[in-house]
Parts: sequence; structure tokens; C-alpha cells
Amino acid sequence: PVVAVILAGGTGSRLYPASRSDRPKQFLALGDPDDDRSLLARTAERTGFADATLVATRPEFADEVPEHAPNAEVVVEPAGKDTGPAILYATHRAREAVDGDPVVVVLPADHHVPDGDAFEATMARGARVAADTDRLVAFGVKPTRPATGYGYIEPGEGHSGDGSAVDYRDLAAFHEKPGADNAAEYVEAGYYWNAGIFAWTPAALFREARDTPLGPLADALDGDDPDPEAGFAAVDPVSIDYAVMERAEGAAVVPADFAWDDLGAWDALDRVLDADDDGNVVGGGAEALAVDAADNVVAADDTHVSLVGVEGLCVVAYDDRVLVVPKEQAQRVRDAVDRLKENG
Ligand code: GDD
Ligand code: MG
Repeated sequence: PVVAVILAGGTGSRLYPASRSDRPKQFLALGDPDDDRSLLARTAERTGFADATLVATRPEFADEVPEHAPNAEVVVEPAGKDTGPAILYATHRAREAVDGDPVVVVLPADHHVPDGDAFEATMARGARVAADTDRLVAFGVKPTRPATGYGYIEPGEGHSGDGSAVDYRDLAAFHEKPGADNAAEYVEAGYYWNAGIFAWTPAALFREARDTPLGPLADALDGDDPDPEAGFAAVDPVSIDYAVMERAEGAAVVPADFAWDDLGAWDALDRVLDADDDGNVVGGGAEALAVDAADNVVAADDTHVSLVGVEGLCVVAYDDRVLVVPKEQAQRVRDAVDRLKENG
């Protein structure tokens, strides 16, 4: 059986000020102006390939999850420690969610995927590869620009089940969030973007996690008397990409050929919304007047924004907060939020 695990425990700090500590991005309806469902709800509706769906989240968000994903079981990790501990714990819990040995498919809740059918077919294929090979399986998207907010996968030898199209490739190397120069090199060399989606059996993940920074948590979960609290206390926050995927031996990558985007930072709206003649896009309930202004992203709730003579900016206003950042630095909004937190 296949268990989908949706990750819905991040804070979405790069989407400040729409996302705030009590209102993270997965609970917002971003990206598609004709769809008022939250990102989490849309993700949950793409899990038709699975026999059961778990939503993994941190304690603060647990109560709100059922509103967005009524048919999923909520798995609450003891503390928010990034995707490494969250995914290992949810994969452990997936063993109890179905009868028989499951294949787990891990899905972030911040993706824009217009073609749900193509997506589900690829997920089913990845789950099959994970079950047949007992490898860690990543999903590779063809890059369109040298993005620094993604992981990059160097593909190795191709394999196919029926002798025709390639089902999956060896994963030769994994580089999480490289600098701009390396990212450009990787795009040039034909690497994939890591979609942030993974498929594996619990046995494969626990095997690969043991000699990583997640080892103490793996040990605490894998015995006869699992102790998640002690396990979480014994590890530092770390993403699955740094903790496991960069170190994994013998992993595989399944090419993902559906349209895909990560709605992780404001510049993403540029790619998923229709632009006016000057390349400006307007999201949320905002209205905008652009005079001699080009290639900007405006997002706001019921606010009128005027742009005059500016180019390449994200201008975002929610509640009593305003954010202005050049599009190509949108990943840095995280720094501003960290500073706001420090200052109380
Ligand atoms: N349960 C839980 N607990 N979920 C979490 C936590 C946590 O502590 N932290 C983050 N998440 C969730 C987020 O809500 C999101 O749905 C997902 O995990 C991924 O986190 P992001 O913070 O959005 O990761 P990223 O976009 O920077 O990077 C990842 O995704 C990229 C593609 O979208 C990496 O896997 C990259 O390699 C990849 O390219
Ligand atoms: Mg993301």
C-alpha cells in the first residue's frame, strides 16, 4: 500500500507578511486566482494515488489541519525541527497507518501543480520504483533557470522496467540550495531540480538515516518501545535534503514531467499568474495602477497599490505590514523575518 505524507509544518517565512506565525503559507490560497482552497487543501486533493494520507505538522498548527484536509490523519511531531525529523517521524507513523509494508510518498504543501492527473501518474510510478528497488526515490524537474532556492540532482544511469521509456535514473549526486554560480553550472550540465517530493519504504529511509544527524531519532523510533519525544530532543533542526539526501548511497530519481512550481517566495507569483502588457502581476485581492512600471509582483488583500517608474520589485501588503523586495532577492525575506523575530 501507498501512504501519502503531506508536510504542513513549515512557517513559510519567505511569504511574509501574508504568512505569519499563526497563519503559515500552507493554510493560504496562493497562486491560482480562481481557486480559493488553501495550498494544503489542493495538495490533499492530489493524493488519489495513495491508500491513506497523513498530514505531518508541528503542535501549533495541528488543530487547523482538519479544516483543510478532512480525510487525512494528522501526525503531530513533538516539535518543529524542519523536514528531516518531521519526515522520519511521519514515515515511522506510516507503518501503522495501513496493513502491510507501505511505500511512503512525501509531499510538500507549497507546490503549484496545475495538472493533477499527470502528477498522480508520476507519483504512482515513483512509488513503484521505491517498492521494487528499496532505494530512496527523489523526483526530478527540468530546470528553467538557475534558481538558488532548490536542490539539484545529478542524474546517473537510466533504468526502465519494460525496456522502453526510462522509469528512473541513478541519483549520482545531490546538492541542496547551491550558490548562484554552482546553480548555473548545474543547469548547464543537465541536472534536475529536486521537486522536494520523495518515495521510499520505511526500511529504506531508516537504513539511510542511521549514519546521519537524524541517527539518534532513528534509533529512538525504531525499537520495540519508540520514544518520539526523546528522539526529537536528541536532534537539531535540519532539512531532509541536507541530513539524508546529500549523503544517500544508491538513491534514484524519477523524472517529473508535469508543470510544477514551488510557491515558496513572492517571485513565484510572477511565474504562475498572468501578467499585464508590461509584465506586472497582481495577486490576492489587490488592485494595482502601473505607470511606467514593469515586471513587478503585487500581492495584497483588498489594497490599491500604485507603482510608478519601478521595475523588478515585489510589493506586498497584508494586515498592517508592507514588504518591498527586488524579485531576484525574494528568498532573502526569510532574513527579514528572522530579524523581526529577534526584535520581538
Ligand atoms: N511537518 C513539518 N514540520 N513540515 C515542515 C517543517 C516542519 O518542521 N518545516 C517545513 N515543513 C514543510 C513546509 O510546510 C513545506 O510544505 C515543506 O515542508 C518544504 O519546506 P520548504 O521550507 O518549502 O522547503 P524548500 O522549498 O526551501 O526546499 C525543499 O523543496 C524544494 C522544492 O520545492 C527542498 O527539498 C529542495 O531541495 C527542493 O528543491
Ligand atoms: Mg518550498
